[in-house]
Amino acid sequence: MRVTVFGTGYVGLVTGTCLAEVGNHVVCVDIDQAKVEGLNRGVIPIYEPGLEPMVRANHGAGRLEFTTDAAAAIAHGDTIFIAVGTPPDEDGSADLQYVLAVARSIGEHLSRPAVVVNKSTVPVGTADKVRATISAALAARGADVAFEVASNPEFLKEGAAVNDCMRPDRIIIGSRSARAVEQLRRLYAPFNRSHDRVVVMDERSAELTKYAANAMLATKISFMNEMANIAERVGADIEMVRHGIGSDPRIGYHFIYPGPGYGGSCFPKDVQALERIARQHDYPARILAAVEAVNDAQKGKLFELISRHFGGDVSGKTFAVWGLAFKPNTDDMREAPSRTLLAQLWAAGARVRAHDPEAMDEAARIFGERGDLVFCDSPDAAVEGADALVLVTEWKAFNSPDFQAMARRLAGRVVFDGRNLFSPDAVEEAGLAYYGIGRGRTLRHD
Ligand code: UDX
Repeated sequence: MRVTVFGTGYVGLVTGTCLAEVGNHVVCVDIDQAKVEGLNRGVIPIYEPGLEPMVRANHGAGRLEFTTDAAAAIAHGDTIFIAVGTPPDEDGSADLQYVLAVARSIGEHLSRPAVVVNKSTVPVGTADKVRATISAALAARGADVAFEVASNPEFLKEGAAVNDCMRPDRIIIGSRSARAVEQLRRLYAPFNRSHDRVVVMDERSAELTKYAANAMLATKISFMNEMANIAERVGADIEMVRHGIGSDPRIGYHFIYPGPGYGGSCFPKDVQALERIARQHDYPARILAAVEAVNDAQKGKLFELISRHFGGDVSGKTFAVWGLAFKPNTDDMREAPSRTLLAQLWAAGARVRAHDPEAMDEAARIFGERGDLVFCDSPDAAVEGADALVLVTEWKAFNSPDFQAMARRLAGRVVFDGRNLFSPDAVEEAGLAYYGIGRGRTLRHD
């Protein structure tokens, strides 16, 4: 089938590449000339496991093209995906200007029937706006071309996006049009083999499904972080509690890891946007507001533990920071808890020696040259001479350090474990103090 994808960010690039991988002819279009030229040379603008070889192979085979030419791309596709960004505007609502600009462009150039599919995360009711925008642009040029609109939200996790795309849990198709549903079913058939994962619904339900999924997941995390804060105060260990509750199948073990707060490009933005949507419909979404407030506070948790340990004064101290990306297997630092921590450390006059397996270039881009930040080639190098180690992101490479060797490298005697990754006993056996998230045993260091 012939597919056009607007937007070569995470969602568009991964979706386009996976659709090419199963034999479709895909044209990806982006307004960023440099990005398109790079992609045509096989340069992938993001770090995503498995994506680069797949892009190169499909590009080489002629099934995957990148262009800035919207008119040619619109002429190509029977199915046209909109996968451009919906960044938050000043009040936290999703900004639809890019989505609607694409819709206008489709209306200006469409010359034969197509199914227009919205993959960006958009407020409920956007499918109607996309439809109206395309219709208006068609009418303005006196064209009468049949088109359908569908809402087909993505559920890709960064770091596992290719796998999530090739082996989805569910494929949500929101459309009033039987033809659109049929066309998308055929397009997704290669990803839908063992049992039917397609859920067909109306557009608005599909749009809300995406927000509801992310809000539910964010809620699980904020709930666990709240439990961790209670555990810390009452002298319980949240890791025991996590095991204890996860064994109930109604609760489950997934996504109940306490930490330094959720980050990334989706949860913070989507929770906020859904709150705004609710408010616009005169409903105060109390749970969503609390999820956000708990997360904002949690991002300051590591600094709070650090500050308490050092008696409120960290000026002149040096902190080894392991992990800058908002989660492992990505170089993405959007809304990363590390950013809050670094800002707080710097504001308090401390210095940072940081290591991240993938995100150091991104960090250098964000923070620029500064005297109180040194990037280190290895986890060991970061620890050298530091007053403390702070683990922020749970990369596999940080899983089982040699704490005896670490104790010799560190100038100070303390480890702050933002992901409860380490065994407190192993850390303490090496003569280091251990702080985790919600581990009441840390009370004895008070
Ligand atoms: C998320 C959703 O998982 C995905 O379905 C959606 O399409 C886009 O948003 P992503 O942002 O890539 O994907 O990251 P995810 O792996 O879900 O993690 C989000 C954040 O939650 C990270 O900061 C992570 O560290 C944090 N997290 C996750 C926890 O703190 N505890 C957990 O138990 C799980």
